[in-house]
Order: sequence, then structure tokens, then C-alpha cells
Amino acid sequence: MERLRAGVALCGSYCTFRNAVAAFERLCGEYDVTPIMSERSAATDSRFGRAEDFRNRLMSASGREIVDTVVKAEPIGPKGLLDVVIVMPCTGNTLAKLANGITDSAVTMAVKAHLRNERPVVLAVATNDALGANAENIGKLLARKHIFFVPFYQDDPVKKPCSLASRLDLVEDTVAAAMEGRQIQPLLAEAK
Ligand SMILES: Cc1cc2nc3c(=O)[nH]c(=O)nc-3n(C[C@H](O)[C@H](O)[C@H](O)COP(=O)(O)O)c2cc1C
Repeated sequence: MERLRAGVALCGSYCTFRNAVAAFERLCGEYDVTPIMSERSAATDSRFGRAEDFRNRLMSASGREIVDTVVKAEPIGPKGLLDVVIVMPCTGNTLAKLANGITDSAVTMAVKAHLRNERPVVLAVATNDALGANAENIGKLLARKHIFFVPFYQDDPVKKPCSLASRLDLVEDTVAAAMEGRQIQPLLAEAK
């Protein structure tokens, strides 16, 4: 059977990168994965690791070059290159842009191009303003057609009361439901 063609897009939630890159490598065993990175995530070294090392791991696991510019992401729409786009991790910045129709990065372009084909987008939110400045954007996206969320939880309600993180172990289940047009439930998950 043909494998699902998944665009897996990483945004600049660098503290999530270790887990996200491990999840990315796991997804490569399941799907035909095209790596996508926001310009910032493709270029930023942080205390959580070097951009070049992360890039190399994504290319080595997927066997493909990284889509890391708006120009490289644009053909996803007209050529119908993907069955699903998974944004993992999805920053508050990218959430806000997606909710408000702003397309100025490889990731937002990949999502916009893919949505033109009315195919599913799966978001794995990781941001400490998810229940603050970005709460309304999550609300908007929850109501939007073809957008689905990986179940999320409060990762530190005491020290970061507005923060949400996503259950990356549930990405494949979220994708399976999204491919049938369903939001996986429960959306509010326990931390794992
Ligand atoms: C060390 C570090 C960690 C960060 N972690 C997060 C995070 O977990 N979630 C988030 O939304 N933004 C985080 N940011 C901020 C984003 O990287 C920033 O908003 C960036 O513009 C996101 O761009 P992108 O959405 O195009 O990837 C972090 C920044 C740095 C330097």
C-alpha cells in the first residue's frame, strides 16, 4: 500500500526539538515524510542544540532536502504534493499567523498551499502563551475546516499557567482521525 505523504514542519520551539526530532524520526517509519522548517528554526542555534545538527537529522531520517523557504513550499499546493501537513512543534508565532491568514514563512506557506487542496493540517502546539495571547487564535483554528490538533495539556500550570504542550506520542492517531475528517478526542490530554 502507498504510504501517506506527510509534510512534517518544525517551528522554533527549541525546547521541544529533542522530542520533536525523535517523533519526526518515528514518523519517517510510518509515512513518506517531507521535512519542512520555518526559516528561524532552520537557522537558530540555541542552548537546546545546533540548527545544523537538527537539519542533518531531519534529512537523514527522511532522505529529503528540507523545505525551508516560501518559494520551496509553494509547489505543495499546485502540485498536490502532500496528503497531510503536520506542524510539530507549532509555535505561538506560527499559530497566530495561521489563524489570521499571514503567510510569510516556509511553514505558513506549506499550510496555506496544502489547504488550498482541502486536505488536513495537524497542529502540535507548544507555546507558553497558548492560554494567554494565543488562546483566541487556538479558538479560531479549532473552528476552522481541515485543521486538527494533537491533544494538548498544561505542561507546568504553576510556573507557566498559560503554557500548553502537545502529546507527541498521539501524532499518528491524530493523523489517522484527521484523514477521516475527525478531531481525535479527548482533545485535552493528561501530561505524559
Ligand atoms: C530558546 C528559545 C526557545 C523558544 N521556545 C519557544 C516555544 O516553546 N514556543 C514558542 O511558541 N516560541 C518559542 N520561542 C520563540 C520562537 O522561536 C519565535 O517566536 C520565532 O519567531 C518563531 O518563529 P517560527 O514560528 O517561524 O518558527 C523560543 C525562542 C528561543 C530563542
